[in-house]
Amino acid sequence: MDNFLWIKDEKQQSMMRKLYDQAKVDRVPILLDNAAGVIDSWLLLLKPNRILEVGTAVGYSAIRMALVSPNSIIDTIEKDPDRANEARANIQRFNLEERVILHEGDALDLISGMKEEYDFVFIDAAKGQYGRFFEDAIEKIRPGGVVICDNMLFHGFVEAEEVPKRYRSMIKKLKVFHQTLLNHPDFETRILSIDDGISISVKRG
Ligand SMILES: C[S@@+](CC[C@H](N)C(=O)[O-])C[C@H]1O[C@@H](n2cnc3c(N)ncnc32)[C@H](O)[C@@H]1O
Repeated sequence: MDNFLWIKDEKQQSMMRKLYDQAKVDRVPILLDNAAGVIDSWLLLLKPNRILEVGTAVGYSAIRMALVSPNSIIDTIEKDPDRANEARANIQRFNLEERVILHEGDALDLISGMKEEYDFVFIDAAKGQYGRFFEDAIEKIRPGGVVICDNMLFHGFVEAEEVPKRYRSMIKKLKVFHQTLLNHPDFETRILSIDDGISISVKRG
């Protein structure tokens, strides 16, 4: 199934396909198709003014969100300088510099200083730090706002009995984060086993 038929502008559609294909060739871990479809749907319903993304990589998901939600402004954070440079070039190629604002640096340093109120937050960076990204973002999310986190099942290891040693500490933290979301008094959360697992949390109020 063609992943980008929803993009009406043919030039943008072809640019998006190229961005997607190049990310696959370069082995940049971008958002998988089913999870992307879920995010699209939430954006179409929510029509957010302001979006925060943690983990830009080369800009695929940020650009996609900007195309799906043409009235949104997106703050996206990337700490790897090479990826940030590539994302900047991609954002410019799509003429989206006014709506997709790239913040280069560690989200753990940057989120708490963000001045905006967010309607939608997408967390897709270091899995062992999700709890900290979320805690830093909470007070900036408006009531009714939505947080989506990717890779919540991390290749099935979150539910596996045996976890390779190199992932153990990260998976332990991800499991704690599951519980934080599921038991959070201010959020209603579902975790879906699609693609690598995504969580959807709606802020009460
Ligand atoms: C899975 S990729 C993001 C993919 C992107 N959301 C997409 O779907 O197109 C994760 C990115 O998060 C970045 N990252 C990891 N930890 C970070 C942190 N603490 N602050 C900012 N960026 C971080 C990594 O450098 C990497 O490029």
